Amino acid sequence: MRRPVIAGNWKMHMELDEVTNYASRFGKAISDVKDRDIIICPPFIYLRTLIEALQGTPVSIGAQMMYWEDKGAYTGEISGPMLRSIGVEYVIIGHSERRQFFGETDATVNRRVKAALRNHINPILCVGETLKQREASETFEVIDRQLTQGLEGLELKPTESIIVAYEPVWAIGTGKTATPGIAQEVHERIRNVLSSILGAKASGEIRVLYGGSVKPDNIDELMRQKDIDGALVGGASLDPDSFERIVRYKE
Ligand code: 13P
Repeated sequence: MRRPVIAGNWKMHMELDEVTNYASRFGKAISDVKDRDIIICPPFIYLRTLIEALQGTPVSIGAQMMYWEDKGAYTGEISGPMLRSIGVEYVIIGHSERRQFFGETDATVNRRVKAALRNHINPILCVGETLKQREASETFEVIDRQLTQGLEGLELKPTESIIVAYEPVWAIGTGKTATPGIAQEVHERIRNVLSSILGAKASGEIRVLYGGSVKPDNIDELMRQKDIDGALVGGASLDPDSFERIVRYKE
């Protein structure tokens, strides 16, 4: 049995007073949750604030990206050792918005995944096709390439783990969720590809999350799918009440 994961990606939202209000409300609201991992990925500048505010709660904190070098003259960048030193446990890598707007490629994704693992941070690797690719029946080809190249040369040690998030680009922020059937079909494909890259054992253990317009009213059905182990939630994670409802999905 894979332990479910509900992760919130705040993207470029929230100001400091909203962050502290959110933390005190949400931390209390989910303090009794034990059977699933809860992760919040805020902008870099709130990482430490949230780690402190949510200490002793079931919430872990993740970054939305990181650079692959450990240190050096790279103005504006944030490295793995820096994140680890403040208590960050997860990092989103290869989000489609980074691929679309900031030149992220499968090759840079690969370097970041390796750097995260080297620094004992769990990467959440995002994959997903655009609408144009789906309409051209290229979904599996795109997913296969993103996984194969993103994980190239990777050998997971027994203590290391990665999370994969399937986020169809056409479902992000659009209100259009992939139907549970569509999501399950791609998740199954992801599991098979992971098995050929990393072996059946690792593939059986890797949590594969769905992301793209996940809301309180569609999470339950998504979580009933065999290969969906959790969700990566954007917009609906910005409100502590709706994110709590998603964390408390019903099986
Ligand atoms: P939305 O939930 O706002 O569609 O965003 C999904 C996402 O991109 C999470 O990383």
